[in-house]
Amino acid sequence: MVSRVIPVEDFDLVIFGGTGDLARRKILPGLYRRFLAGQMPDSSRIIGAARSEMDDAGFRDMVAEAIAEFGGDEGGDAACLKRFLDRVHYVPVDARGEDGWAELAKLMTRKGCEVRAFYFSVAPGLFGDLAERLRLHKIADRDSRIVVEKPFGHDLATARDLNATLAAHFAEDQIYRIDHYLGKETVQNLMAIRFGNVLFEPLWNAHYVDHIQITVAETVGVAGRGSYYDQSGAMRDMVQNHLMQLLCLIAMEPPSMFDADAVRDEKLKVIRALQPIASDQLVRGQYAAGDGQPSYRDDAENPDSRTESYIALKAHIANWRWAGVPFYLRTGKRLKARASEIAVVFKDLGHSIFPEDESRHRNILSIRLQPNEGIDLQVTIKEPGPGGMRLVDVPLDMTFADALGPEAEGVPDAYERLIMDVIRGNQTLFMRGDEVEAAWAWTDPIIEGWEARGDRPVAYEPGSSGPEDALMLLHRDRRRWRDIKTEVA
Ligand code: NDP
Ligand code: BG6
Repeated sequence: MVSRVIPVEDFDLVIFGGTGDLARRKILPGLYRRFLAGQMPDSSRIIGAARSEMDDAGFRDMVAEAIAEFGGDEGGDAACLKRFLDRVHYVPVDARGEDGWAELAKLMTRKGCEVRAFYFSVAPGLFGDLAERLRLHKIADRDSRIVVEKPFGHDLATARDLNATLAAHFAEDQIYRIDHYLGKETVQNLMAIRFGNVLFEPLWNAHYVDHIQITVAETVGVAGRGSYYDQSGAMRDMVQNHLMQLLCLIAMEPPSMFDADAVRDEKLKVIRALQPIASDQLVRGQYAAGDGQPSYRDDAENPDSRTESYIALKAHIANWRWAGVPFYLRTGKRLKARASEIAVVFKDLGHSIFPEDESRHRNILSIRLQPNEGIDLQVTIKEPGPGGMRLVDVPLDMTFADALGPEAEGVPDAYERLIMDVIRGNQTLFMRGDEVEAAWAWTDPIIEGWEARGDRPVAYEPGSSGPEDALMLLHRDRRRWRDIKTEVA
């Protein structure tokens, strides 16, 4: 079998915030998996940087613990781990002061390293300090890359400020803004399904599509990160970035090629074509206590919180392809299952030649993002057996793990893929500054609207599909949400 590991150049990756939660849970175990896959050149290095005083040995112990706790060691043994840890270093650095910068600069002087990348896995308030000091100490140059984490701003004004701050030190082609949804295997498959098949694209428009549903349902609550989440809510935490990116990939025009700017230009056009949302086009919810679990307000430690842990909305895209087609988006915490899906619901037949059949049949293309990644096309067939021409809807189901077998295993997770794309210098799966700003420009008036009206989110039962009002959002249009379910029917 041809190796699917794309070789990358020799690199130094500095992780600011290398001792933090994200680094321990995602970045470091992900890098170890890439090492095990043979994608890390021999002399590449990973350098942790944070304020905590520690030496290389102390950081290596921390990395080993993170790998053991958060996975990544499948297929590796003690010798592999040691070889990986030999590439790991640590420098105590304060983003806000001068401590550690000279030491970091000295460590970074090695010759022959092709790629220098700096992962800003710290609070966004430190991005500007890091960018400035990296330049000041000549650690980063015109060829270096920086990776910045979400949240990218709290609204349009703060996102613009952040873009301007980064732009003062780095060019746009050096800045990699992470939206980890773009690194998910099936999210990329959206593009393959749309643009790699002749079957769907001719039907992918207002003539044939009745509506589209995008669901990202989670079972977790916000305990442990309530202070961040309560300032954010589902709109800022999920819709402005992850759901918006899914919407773009579903709705965009075919780019002329699979190239970073060609793809991002098309996504930007979709965001700019989104129409404003009226108050009756959205429902906000907050999970109540139940099943022995605390309420949202208890988790957020804010007894009067008006922040939504659930949101459902109806969006329209004002262009020729999508005129009149509603896009229903919903996401929430503490729902009945962890299930993310995009469903393209096609229109009814204009005329049925089967007069005895009274039920309505529809083709639905469902793209399951997680779990059970796969696609499922609902088609109408004759019910087998005697009894005349009775029609029934059946799924043409393809779960990728079943269909592709071992080929579907060992797929890099989102962070692994995205970090390696940074090293390869491929920005296709990263958000461009203007995309982020356009997304906020659409989101801000919606949030300002509910704040000005003093709207409160409605309570919903934990373990449910969300608030009743969200059902009404579709019922009013004579439609209904698809079930939130974990397993393939
Ligand atoms: P943590 O609070 O767990 O970690 C913060 C890191 O920053 C620590 O390593 C800390 O180490 C370091 N740090 C703090 N102040 C400074 C400073 N002045 N100079 C240098 N280093 C500093 O945060 P997370 O890891 O959870 O999050 C990091 C970023 O990633 C945030 O922007 C967050 O929004 C984003 N993010 C996190 C996700 C997650 O799952 N955790 C998911 C998506 C995004 P020390 O105290 O030793 O300096
Ligand atoms: C993060 C959000 O960006 O994505 C979290 O901040 C959310 O609130 C998470 O839980 C969901 O990611 P995934 O990959 O588990 O669907």
